[in-house]
Amino acid sequence: MPKVAHRAGNGAATNGTAVAGHVKDMNLAREGRLRIEWADRHMPVVRTIRSRFAKERPLRGMRIAACLHVTTETANLARTLKAGGAEVFLCGSNPLSTQDDVAAALVAHYGIATYAIKGEDHKTYYNHILSCIEARPHVTMDDGCDLVTVLHTKKKGYLKDVIAGTEETSTGVTRLRAMAASKVLRYPVIAINDADTKHLFDNRYGTGQSTIDGILRSTNMLIAGSTVVIAGYGWCGRGVATRAKGMGATVLVTEINPVRALEAAMDGFQVLSMEEACPRGDLFITLTGNKSVLRREHFLAMKDGAIVANSGHFNVEIDIPALERISGGKRRVRELVDEYRVKTGRRIYLLGEGRLINLAAAEGHPAMVMDMSFANQAMSVEFLKKKHKTLKRDVYKVPEAIDREVARLKLRSMEIDIDTLTQEQDKYLRTWSEGT
Ligand SMILES: NC(=O)c1ccc[n+]([C@@H]2O[C@H](COP(=O)([O-])OP(=O)(O)OC[C@H]3O[C@@H](n4cnc5c(N)ncnc54)[C@H](O)[C@@H]3O)[C@@H](O)[C@H]2O)c1
Repeated sequence: MPKVAHRAGNGAATNGTAVAGHVKDMNLAREGRLRIEWADRHMPVVRTIRSRFAKERPLRGMRIAACLHVTTETANLARTLKAGGAEVFLCGSNPLSTQDDVAAALVAHYGIATYAIKGEDHKTYYNHILSCIEARPHVTMDDGCDLVTVLHTKKKGYLKDVIAGTEETSTGVTRLRAMAASKVLRYPVIAINDADTKHLFDNRYGTGQSTIDGILRSTNMLIAGSTVVIAGYGWCGRGVATRAKGMGATVLVTEINPVRALEAAMDGFQVLSMEEACPRGDLFITLTGNKSVLRREHFLAMKDGAIVANSGHFNVEIDIPALERISGGKRRVRELVDEYRVKTGRRIYLLGEGRLINLAAAEGHPAMVMDMSFANQAMSVEFLKKKHKTLKRDVYKVPEAIDREVARLKLRSMEIDIDTLTQEQDKYLRTWSEGT
């Protein structure tokens, strides 16, 4: 693989030492830096942690391999970890989500070894993960569990240095729990996704807004008056459903979990099977973390011009090979929009090659919400450095104290004050004898 050593730009971040990396074009670094700074303005919690880290250097001596979407917000997380004393090695967690200007700026201006190129092929994607593993990390920071999987299968020799890890997303947590249940997980991992200050905000409001953003940027369609089918009423699905409804769409929801289906019904959405939804939908969005949610029989039942998109972690939610098989031909009609001519004579439009549409066609979540997710990441790594010896080879929740602190700092940054318990209330909530 062509690895390039780029010399850091102004020397401020790296003292002029060569920083390794494999990025698309170093000429994009200036633009990337401006966008990273813009995002930073909207990440007050991460900024607060960064100033503390710069003083206390709690991550001194640590090497962190991070497999995350290479966006402006991730850049600010990487800067924060570096300010805390860590050496950070970054690769993309999806072949289409990298922002090339950000990758260039990380290498040129922030001294962070970055291996990520938007549109990289499968082999390059995995080579980039290998580059991060070969840096002999003490901590892994994953988004979807690909790095952890490579480490536990093809690169077991590097496991001995690893003390702990973190995982950003629902799908990664599901994979890690399967690894822990099969007793193959070799170190403790904190499930960042499960923090309240992560999934209640990032998944719901972040995915809710940025998924619509990606669909609008790639299609310029009018949501008002259209029929939108949302597969999966989890934290992400309800975020998108609510926003699509707010923009004037008729929203139909499909689910496999009866409780979630009931929630969708009582939130005012029509819940039905995908089979029933197919002939009605103009736009289908999968957000399930599952595979083949849209498949052959569904494509055959869709109307001419139906648009299909995915915002779940992997590109398996839409069975693209099945779509290929039932199509007579395919052509790219707009950036990231592929038209499939189905043998029924109808056309189906697949967005973003079935990959996370919010990151493939737009910029991912707004910095304002990633501020909380990445504050959890930074503080969890700090916690793991101190406490990893007390943990087993299992998946852990973000400590309650960290979750609360993130909420507290976020509220403070928004200049929102909340009440505190009076002594009387505090006592009342801890007694059982006082009734009507
Ligand atoms: N696009 C992004 O930036 C982004 C951000 C966060 C999470 N994610 C990913 O989005 C996916 C969903 O995350 P979440 O936090 O909402 O998870 P979740 O577990 O809260 O929700 C997933 C829902 O999908 C349902 N489901 C599963 N199989 C289904 C099927 N065949 N048909 C219909 N519904 C089905 C489940 O019952 C569940 O309610 C995951 O892959 C996650 O990693 C993406």
